[in-house]
Amino acid sequence: MSGATLTIGDYQALVSAFEAEAMPAIAGADSVDALEAVRAKHLGRAHGWLRTLSARLGELDRGDRAAAGRAFNEVRVRVEDALAERQQTLAPAREGGALADPTMPARHSWAGVVHPVSQVLDEMIAIFRELGFTIALGPETESPWYNFGALNFPADHPAMDLHDTLYVSDDVLLRTHTSPVQVRTLQAYPPPIRVLIPGNVHRRDPFDASHAPAFTQVEGLVVDEGIGFADLKATLNHFARRFFGAAKTRFRPSYFPFTEPSAEMDVVCGVCNGSGCGVCKQTGWIEILGSGLVHPAVLESAGVDSERYTGWAFGMGPGRTALARHGIPDIRILYDSDVRFLGQFSR
Ligand code: PHE
Repeated sequence: MSGATLTIGDYQALVSAFEAEAMPAIAGADSVDALEAVRAKHLGRAHGWLRTLSARLGELDRGDRAAAGRAFNEVRVRVEDALAERQQTLAPAREGGALADPTMPARHSWAGVVHPVSQVLDEMIAIFRELGFTIALGPETESPWYNFGALNFPADHPAMDLHDTLYVSDDVLLRTHTSPVQVRTLQAYPPPIRVLIPGNVHRRDPFDASHAPAFTQVEGLVVDEGIGFADLKATLNHFARRFFGAAKTRFRPSYFPFTEPSAEMDVVCGVCNGSGCGVCKQTGWIEILGSGLVHPAVLESAGVDSERYTGWAFGMGPGRTALARHGIPDIRILYDSDVRFLGQFSR
């Protein structure tokens, strides 16, 4: 064929010349920098041999181009392999490739653990989920009405005092419990309702061995037709059996403005099995939650017909529960973020 300015023989000579020049240069590079210079010269995008060789393919007869291209590619692969190999010798990669010194100690790896309070929370949620509860959330800043008024607190209740509650402004406060989300949930969804409400709450407490100014609560709320105290007791006893093992429980009469009647539930102390120890303050029992039948006034302030519907609610603190479960003497340890402490709770 006519028109070709380059013969296949000439092209193969160019390819061989390239290989003959590149290979000794690669072998002779005695540092990573020197090798980089060789790479730039022979394989560089701008001026390298590779660019010249691919450009000159166009000067060949069409019929010769496939064979020429194959010759070119074979050489390119050999040169690139030689470069990679030399690179590995001059600067061994840490991963995958051969190590310079296989006796070097392995790098230590750190695995995080789920915080003990979150572990308790996760388990609580899992148990109630099996019973058909869903999760509801509400805001951490609240109006006094949701936090107190709608929950049947009398206007002069001491909990509303500046000494106990953190106010952001006259009409905004940091919620002191998760109970306002009872009202928000009742306003948003028609019964039947079965929700679990985890969240952070704030109180103007001193930070001491048994109080934290901010902590996690879990609220439960069930509202439907024909709900009574038997539902409350059966469900919470089931929870205690699942969560604490074969723990015994007891209900003590109590008082909350938003439940009537109200009861606190204790479980037998898991550390001493009821005989009395430091964790249960010698009583043999650990208080784990407050509960009661939802006060009709709460249902009414949320717009729910209290003649037709009844319900029960509870609130508990996974932090306190974590202390009891692990026999931890001081709540502040939970907030220290000390990895020596937290590392003990890997599951
Ligand atoms: N909100 C109460 C508290 O923070 C707990 C509670 C919730 C009690 C629901 C009864 C019913 O102490």
